[in-house]
Amino acid sequence: MIHCKSPEELARMAAANALVADILEAVSARVEPGATTADLDEYAERLVREAGAEPAFKGYRGYPATLCTSVNAEVVHGIPSRARPLVEGDIVSIDMGVKLGGFYGDSAVTVPVGRVAPATVRLLEVTREALWAGIAEAKAGGRVSDIGHAVQTVVEAHGFSVVREFVGHGVGRSLHEEPQVPNYGRPGRGARLVEGMTLCIEPMVNMGEAGVEVLGDGWTAVTRDGSLSAHFEHTVAIATDGPRVLTLPRAEREAASPRAAAGGA
Ligand code: MF3
Ligand code: CO
Repeated sequence: MIHCKSPEELARMAAANALVADILEAVSARVEPGATTADLDEYAERLVREAGAEPAFKGYRGYPATLCTSVNAEVVHGIPSRARPLVEGDIVSIDMGVKLGGFYGDSAVTVPVGRVAPATVRLLEVTREALWAGIAEAKAGGRVSDIGHAVQTVVEAHGFSVVREFVGHGVGRSLHEEPQVPNYGRPGRGARLVEGMTLCIEPMVNMGEAGVEVLGDGWTAVTRDGSLSAHFEHTVAIATDGPRVLTLPRAEREAASPRAAAGGA
């Protein structure tokens, strides 16, 4: 069943997701050569708890951390670690969910470490562009697969490939609700999109082939061909006037709607 949210529920969703956006910004600012993903995770968990929220991933099916930190050929679900400090030229996907006021927020960004190669910059740009193409389809009257079709079209036009094994999802009182939101497919299929739905749209894009495999830790997904992978995710509410992105960075939230920026209605 797909849960549609009332205006009151959407206000709580907005608050949880604004917190996610703020913490992702703060954590991203600490990405630099020499930092470890475990440092980033500790910082994120502290900020989540100081805000009176709970990490959404920690303990979820036994996942051990607040963040998923996926470096270079890691696609998603990389476990924060002290083993290898970040080095200039790396990219790191930082994915975080929180639970606040009974509702979940979820978002991810891929951040360059110092200067990265031009082809890497392109991968990040195209993945972000694909996310926004998907978001543009998150409007009442459309169908779920319109989102994935738009994502795939952008990605493949640039010669990159879309990961099939992991999908976006509905979100609300649970981290993962119906419907699943694949990042590929033919348009006009699946559930009809209606006002009040809240979706996580999260393309994972590989520079090389689409195939992925999961490492022996049971979590870390990596590209089979060792190529770089990027991941961006926003939580989006389907509103009367179109998609409303709940995980915009603070400056963009303020520009979009001064009252909503604090996480209010
Ligand atoms: N953003 C991802 C998702 O919503 C991260 C989940 S990690 C897990 O599926 F640990 F919670 F599984
Ligand atoms: Co998600």
